[in-house]
Amino acid sequence: MNSNNKSILITGCSSGIGLCVAEGLQQRGYRVFATARRLADVERLTERGLEALVLDVSDDDSIDEAVEEILSRTGGTLYALFNNGAYQQPGAVEDLSREALRAQFETNLFGWHALTRKLIPVMRQQGGGRIIQNSSVLGLVVLPLRGAYNASKFALEGLADTLRLELAGTNIHVSLIEPGPIRSKFRDNAHAAFKKHIDAENSVYREHYAAMEERLQKEGDAAPFTLPPEAVLRRVIHALESKRPQVRYYVTFPTYLFGTLRRLLPYRWLDRLLLKVSGGGSR
Ligand SMILES: NC(=O)c1ccc[n+]([C@@H]2O[C@H](COP(=O)([O-])OP(=O)(O)OC[C@H]3O[C@@H](n4cnc5c(N)ncnc54)[C@H](OP(=O)(O)O)[C@@H]3O)[C@@H](O)[C@H]2O)c1
Repeated sequence: MNSNNKSILITGCSSGIGLCVAEGLQQRGYRVFATARRLADVERLTERGLEALVLDVSDDDSIDEAVEEILSRTGGTLYALFNNGAYQQPGAVEDLSREALRAQFETNLFGWHALTRKLIPVMRQQGGGRIIQNSSVLGLVVLPLRGAYNASKFALEGLADTLRLELAGTNIHVSLIEPGPIRSKFRDNAHAAFKKHIDAENSVYREHYAAMEERLQKEGDAAPFTLPPEAVLRRVIHALESKRPQVRYYVTFPTYLFGTLRRLLPYRWLDRLLLKVSGGGSR
């Protein structure tokens, strides 16, 4: 297949990486199904010239309806899936309610899993496909005050690695993208999740949270080595078009650095380094 007859479903296209990848792949000739969970965003995406649909990954019915509609438009085929729509729930592990942790997993893991397993039979039937999971450097190493997100991305890594082994020999390739800091609405959405679920005033981490909120609300890039979402688009294109897509695509210097250090350093040394670079969680 060349890109002219390849189709791809992308989740979380209202902003950031999803929007950039949807537009970039459409310009490259792909048939892109750009999905977002809110109707207003779907209308905005349509106005921008994208084939857009509603898909909320935390809702099984929404997943079913979107997949059914897309397959009816393609005649039952879909070359690729880019699982991308997610958010970060900030907060210390001891401040995370069961509800907050569950909501994080519903969106960042269970929804991605539900969507993926609906599409694997389609890919088997057509003799191949690509599944690309947008993980994070925080699926490779952890930072304090991000336990829910760390856990969701570590779990994603485990499921993706297992799936790759299970799909060996099927011509369905599973790749993980590992971005470090990327320019998007990620921090705004993390701040909203923090406000929704964390009782900062009554936490022993109150002061850390004040510094963290400052970072989340900072204008411009909050972290060094931040890249635009096009850096992810380039890796997605490779994962879609290479005969032998990579298992993991590192994006940004922090991912190369920590992806390497986690294999070299003893655990305690890595802990010390991660505490230092994160300012104990405030950065
Ligand atoms: N930006 C970074 O520094 C960074 C680093 C590593 C990994 N990542 C990963 O990159 C992916 C995209 O994030 P981004 O940086 O582009 O941030 P973003 O601008 O906040 O985009 C996140 C997207 O996910 C969507 N989303 C949230 N909950 C959803 C749900 N239940 N169903 C469907 N979509 C949902 C959001 O939609 P709404 O507008 O409706 O909320 C939005 O479209 C995420 O998987 C994230 O973990 C980002």
